[in-house]
Amino acid sequence: MTTLGVFVGGSPLPSAGQVVEAERDTPWGEVSDLPYRVQLGEVQLLLMHRHGPQRELSPHQINYRANVWLMQQLGATVLIGTHTVGSIDPNLKVGELVLPEQLIDYTWGRAQTFDDQRRHVDFSSPYSADLRARILASGVPIHAGGVYACTQGPRLESAAEIVRLARDGCTIVGMTGMPEAGLARELELEFASLCVVVNPAAGVSSASIDMQALREASERGAAQIWAVLTALGAT
Ligand code: HPA
Repeated sequence: MTTLGVFVGGSPLPSAGQVVEAERDTPWGEVSDLPYRVQLGEVQLLLMHRHGPQRELSPHQINYRANVWLMQQLGATVLIGTHTVGSIDPNLKVGELVLPEQLIDYTWGRAQTFDDQRRHVDFSSPYSADLRARILASGVPIHAGGVYACTQGPRLESAAEIVRLARDGCTIVGMTGMPEAGLARELELEFASLCVVVNPAAGVSSASIDMQALREASERGAAQIWAVLTALGAT
């Protein structure tokens, strides 16, 4: 049986199931929240609210090391980060799912590694090809490919910053994709980022970003993410 750890982001998945019995305090500090255990067919899901139980943690305040480490301790071999994103590529519309193939990390000051003495790890392909294929086989419509830009936040970007990210080849932008993906790679866990577009990024649309619409789109995205997870449980 696979244990699949899921980091829940802006799209709130149900807090169903049983909270795991574990210490919140890890060798890397406190986790955002203790995960819930949910059995979905052959897959045991561990759902952790990345922003904390009351959504009190901004992206730069999240203890990604503690979160990834606890998932592994609890037996997860596969991790899916769910993320709300802005679209840089105008073909990606609000409400659509995107499964990026690459990323560029623009964050700073976040703890990026479990070991400063560490050997290098290959990060040419930041996401697991195998896991991406399984997600794409879910039957849920998903844009496959593209480049996730991870910005520091918590503010959104300026229009000029988005022009720069587009020039760099980025197609979507979020704030929580790193260092999560890099830490998962260090622990040799399969990892993929499943993203929901909740707004056109700054300057991509002529309208300014409507924060209420962004929140509503984030909430609506939860149903699609859940459909993907359910399909993974059935395979
Ligand atoms: N930029 C960065 N992060 C985001 C955005 C955005 O436009 N929308 C949702 N998360």
